[in-house]
Amino acid sequence: MVESSMVGTRKVIPSLGLFHLKKGDRKKMIGQGNTAEIYPWGDHRVVKLFRGGNHFSSIQRELAVSREVEFLGLPVPKVYGRAQLRGRTGILYERITGPAMTLEMSRHPDQLDSFASTLAQLHHQIHQKEGSRLDSQKEDLKREIRKTDRLPVKTRDAVIRHLERLPEGDRLCHCDFHPDNILMSAEGPVVIDWMIGSRGAPAADIARTALILRDASLPPGMEFFQPLRTEFRREYLKAYFRLSPLSKEEIKAWEVPLAAARLNEKIPEDEKARLLSRVEREVETFR
Ligand SMILES: Nc1ncnc2c1ncn2[C@@H]1O[C@H](COP(=O)(O)OP(=O)(O)OP(=O)(O)O)[C@@H](O)[C@H]1O
Ligand SMILES: [Mg+2]
Repeated sequence: MVESSMVGTRKVIPSLGLFHLKKGDRKKMIGQGNTAEIYPWGDHRVVKLFRGGNHFSSIQRELAVSREVEFLGLPVPKVYGRAQLRGRTGILYERITGPAMTLEMSRHPDQLDSFASTLAQLHHQIHQKEGSRLDSQKEDLKREIRKTDRLPVKTRDAVIRHLERLPEGDRLCHCDFHPDNILMSAEGPVVIDWMIGSRGAPAADIARTALILRDASLPPGMEFFQPLRTEFRREYLKAYFRLSPLSKEEIKAWEVPLAAARLNEKIPEDEKARLLSRVEREVETFR
């Protein structure tokens, strides 16, 4: 059975029935990330199926945030509800036609400044919205930092003390905002993957994007980006600063807590090692 949300009301659409993933369906997969696989559902929808394990709370969270951002009128896929399937749970979304911004960047590497500027404008547009109905970004970060087994207790405590001094913020934040989570449709860019969207400080959201642009391991097909990432990051920040008077220091203050929290993500070991040495180096300046 599928639940559907239409701003505030909930109704059930029994006619959509149950979704059964058969052997051959794997071939039809249209996208995947670290946590989920995306399959078509009819002509105009997709189902985001979470891999393995019990993802009940993550799915509830992504569903709630996706409903909220649709309600706020942002360029996001419409969300139709949750599908409960044999052994797997998914979320139904509007199917967006168009490549990820990363793919477009690989096709037009001469236009990176324009992509960076689009990225900054979209991010700024998100930050104009209040996030009052969402979970706290600082609480999310604290929880992730406490969960990681990579940090010595003293370092972890110093990072959390530093985080506690940072501003709470009341803005909508995506918290995983990067070019692979933007789909370039004919109607304009669409922001997907709101799994950890929260209420917080734009500076933190920007710092997270900047961290990913600088440090994240690149997936196959993205090798072209390696020599260009420093310039792209600089252009993205410059374009954002033109729209909002945030200072570099405000953004830098979030770097260590974000790097520490990212140690808990499913990322390659060499990236974790880089993050860890950054945290250990920077934490010395807090004491
Ligand atoms: N609404 C949609 N319409 C069309 N394609 C989509 C849609 N949502 C996701 N996709 C495709 O599936 C891919 C993975 O989606 P998504 O980013 O939501 O998964 P994820 O597992 O949460 O990713 P991450 O690795 O960032 O955690 C996207 O890059 C895109 O290609
Ligand atoms: Mg994604």
